[in-house]
Amino acid sequence: MKTFKSVTPVSLAHRLASSIAALLLITGAFAASTEEPPVPAVTLQQLMAIVITDASNQVWNAALLEPAAGSDKPSLTEEQWATLRSAATTLLVTPTVLLHPSLAVASPGAPAAEGSLSAAAIAELRSNQWAVWAAQVSILQQSAMAALNAIEDRDYQATLRAGDTLYGVCDSCHKLFWYPEGQ
Ligand code: HEC
Repeated sequence: MKTFKSVTPVSLAHRLASSIAALLLITGAFAASTEEPPVPAVTLQQLMAIVITDASNQVWNAALLEPAAGSDKPSLTEEQWATLRSAATTLLVTPTVLLHPSLAVASPGAPAAEGSLSAAAIAELRSNQWAVWAAQVSILQQSAMAALNAIEDRDYQATLRAGDTLYGVCDSCHKLFWYPEGQ
């Protein structure tokens, strides 16, 4: 890959050394504290509003690309595929956080959207219906994986299909855990 060619052996060695130092620091911190993974520093609300929304919008935006004249589907540049790959990979990181038992729903005092459950009610529901929550997260993971596979294959139609499935997951989990009254 282009980016790797520009790395000189010296800077590579330097990078390796700093990565190892960072790893030692991290493992040291774990050993010193507890065996539990660290409590997420983001809330569920922040994860949704910022990370998940942004990444899924990138995937859905693929549907807005116009085909060139005389072609039946758009031809994406490598940069566009890279953006999509980054978005799908970001989505793939989120299940680990969504399944963390200590994930806070929202910062204290954050207002609930009109017609939706309060943060406390969401937290209680998530804890009581853990298997349902985990199943929804698993479908999110599978559709993000399908998107990533389609993107790696440079398969435009399959990317759009994965985006559609992804949309269904957002909706189904929101109906169960965010505004169940509105079903
Ligand atoms: C596993 C369940 C689950 C999945 C899957 C899920 N969400 Fe959510 N989402 C929630 C819950 C619960 C809330 C309510 C949290 C809150 O705002 O208090 C929420 C809230 C949101 C919000 C409002 C955040 C705010 O500012 O209050 C947005 C935007 C959102 N989700 C986008 C998405 C998108 C886009 C997807 C799909 C790519 C998705 N969500 C998938 C559970 C889920």
